[in-house]
Amino acid sequence: MEISMEERPSSPQLLPVGAFDLIVFGAAGDLALRKLVPSLFHRWRDGQIPATSRIVGASRTALDDDSYRALTLESFKKFHPGEAIDEKEWRAFSKQLFYVELDALDGGSDWKALGDKLGDMAGKQRIFYLALPPGLYGDVCRNIDAAGLKTPGARIVLEKPIGHDLLSARAVNDAVGAVFAEDEIFRIDHYLGKETVQNLIVLRFMNSLFEPVWNANAIDHVEITVAETIGAGGRAGYYDSAGALRDMVQNHLLQLLCLVAMEPPFDLESDTVRDEKLKVLRALRPITAQSVREASVRGQYGPGASDGAAVKGYAEELDKPTATETFAAVKANIDNWRWKGVPFYLRTGKRMGARRSEVIVQFKDVAHALVASGADGLQPSRLVIRLQPDEGVKLLLVTKDPGPGGMRLRYVPLNLSYADAFSARYPDAYERLLMAVVRGDLALFMRRDEVEAAWQWVDGIQAAWSKDETPAHKYAAGTDGPVQAAMMLDRDGRAWFDGA
Ligand code: BG6
Repeated sequence: MEISMEERPSSPQLLPVGAFDLIVFGAAGDLALRKLVPSLFHRWRDGQIPATSRIVGASRTALDDDSYRALTLESFKKFHPGEAIDEKEWRAFSKQLFYVELDALDGGSDWKALGDKLGDMAGKQRIFYLALPPGLYGDVCRNIDAAGLKTPGARIVLEKPIGHDLLSARAVNDAVGAVFAEDEIFRIDHYLGKETVQNLIVLRFMNSLFEPVWNANAIDHVEITVAETIGAGGRAGYYDSAGALRDMVQNHLLQLLCLVAMEPPFDLESDTVRDEKLKVLRALRPITAQSVREASVRGQYGPGASDGAAVKGYAEELDKPTATETFAAVKANIDNWRWKGVPFYLRTGKRMGARRSEVIVQFKDVAHALVASGADGLQPSRLVIRLQPDEGVKLLLVTKDPGPGGMRLRYVPLNLSYADAFSARYPDAYERLLMAVVRGDLALFMRRDEVEAAWQWVDGIQAAWSKDETPAHKYAAGTDGPVQAAMMLDRDGRAWFDGA
């Protein structure tokens, strides 16, 4: 069943941004080449980047302006093979692209070269983007300050992970906070920049239909799944010391949980929304050594198949035994009035059967079924918010199968497919986030207390895991994770919903 859209919205309106100088540390690294520069190009092509703005790449790699421009173009083609690029256009864009060879940890003369390159910046917003490992954030901030480059109101953008536990996150936040004020710090969780994640707020709070039933009276449970088909071996250096819980649950999945579970904010100002998210994080029931087996599952992929090709297991990719989990499932309980008795089941994994990120809100069974329970088609209503791919929202309902022959039931979706309903191209999350930094809009970024509250909860699970002798359960690459994740729900008389 398709919702008819009488009027398709035209292309999105652009919010103008002021002129800026963006200094990207780690400019020759994967994130800068794969995401940041291409995102800036797209914003430039849409006319959103003022002509006097500059993007200054900084890294230890020996390059100059011209060779950096060539490298970014080459990388764009590599990472966006499906997108035709007009090289004349790229050349025009790259006039705003510069490069400084700089060791961000060495407080020496490289910084003077950066200062000279930036020169006079009257009237321009200065932004430092640290596309670097978080262990370096404090030193780089100190060097920015010592070199006199932190102009009034300058902003800093930090990539996740902020630390690898509460203690190290505090140390990073303290070190950065010694140079930048909290409202100058933009901590990225790129999920918050995704179109469909933003839509969660609109869907919940701008439709009067949902709020009256958005609670324990009507909702049975919520599932949040972020499944990936890619493996983890390519980033083993980082990933093997992190694992799925730290890499995905601490940030992306908990942010999604917050947006689904938070109380209605009284406006959309950044601190109003972040205050509400923080209350959810603080209400998460700690998972302890006593509850960890019943409330969590960790898994690690073994050999299997992905996209039709045989692939190695995680340990084989690393060529050494490793206990790191590439899959995590957690049953989260939010101890507040609204969510009493409503579990939030979270799961994420690498090398799963299909790439799929979605939130499923499962409503309770009808109070009194007019047909025999177990009748074909009789299922609880579900709201499925598909974040990627095939972005959209489905409301799954029981209807009467048309035609004679008695009361046959059919479970069908009311389907809002973004691809069918909207003609606009969806900007990559980084495009939205970068422009939000320039505008100074903190709503899409994590505040210090949010990050730390999330770590506190995750640290509890991590500590319980380290005491628990159960190793990560093996699952074959290309499947939906270890069977223990299904058993976790089965014990509660539930099952993951994979039928959307
Ligand atoms: C990153 C994680 O934050 O998010 C990666 O470090 C993961 O391990 C990625 O692959 C997933 O992002 P997306 O946008 O592809 O869902």
